[in-house]
Amino acid sequence: MAKLIAGMGTSHVPGLGAAMDNGKTQEAYWKRLFEGLEPLRQWHEANTPDVNIIVYNDHATEFSLDNYSTFTVGVGESFKPADEGWGPRQVPEMRGHPELAWHLIESVMADEFDLAVNASMDLDHGFTVPLSVAYGQPPEWPAAVVPVCVNVIQHPLPTALRCYKLGQAIGKAVASYPHDITVGIWGTGGLSHQLGGERVGVVNPEFDQLFLDNLTKDPLANTRLSHTDFMREAGCEGVEMIMWNVMRGALGDSVEEVFRLYHIPVSATAYGAIILENR
Ligand code: DHB
Ligand code: FE
Repeated sequence: MAKLIAGMGTSHVPGLGAAMDNGKTQEAYWKRLFEGLEPLRQWHEANTPDVNIIVYNDHATEFSLDNYSTFTVGVGESFKPADEGWGPRQVPEMRGHPELAWHLIESVMADEFDLAVNASMDLDHGFTVPLSVAYGQPPEWPAAVVPVCVNVIQHPLPTALRCYKLGQAIGKAVASYPHDITVGIWGTGGLSHQLGGERVGVVNPEFDQLFLDNLTKDPLANTRLSHTDFMREAGCEGVEMIMWNVMRGALGDSVEEVFRLYHIPVSATAYGAIILENR
């Protein structure tokens, strides 16, 4: 049977991808952050699963605001990096895992989540930046992926609790996949940030750190936050953090935090990353 080995949470700030793509990681602005990411990368090198289920959001790149599903699972054989206006990032295409993706869809739909299914979506910085954070700049990505896109863009959004429950259903789906593969699950986006409006530049370390603490100490506390709580405390785009609840919901009751990094600023945001091993 498949085994869910761990969960990772990471922000997906596009500037991180640009820093790597343009050889700037040793510059003063980025150096300390990328040094801080070294142990995360070592962990990933030592613990590469066969497949990563990557819970991410599209930024109205692939999906138009005219037609935005709440949850979309990618069943393609491969996925291209999206063109976000200045050409696609020069990173490898992402190899899909249609068999696990379809199993996940059937299992999660049987648990009464109505998913959209997409065979050809291009993946924007919300997806490619976390891959680069974990794996650097390899000629090919070391693991296949199953993309799970969550609408955190066009209100009404799924609740923080709904996201956690989706994660639980994904965890159950992985546990019933009848092949001996290892699987990781990633929650992406956040942490506190607001990119426009009167409160542009909001960051809130107390809120972010409590959210990170709760992933091990009291994960259900993070499901009781409303969208208004997220937006008030962590800025409008901070609501991306609900995707970390999908990751946490997929893991078991007992997890061990083996890595955490929190760094301000990255662009106008608070950068956060965590790795939780399933015990
Ligand atoms: C930025 C964009 C994002 O999608 C995000 O989540 C954080 C930061 C940015 O453009 O800086
Ligand atoms: Fe974003």
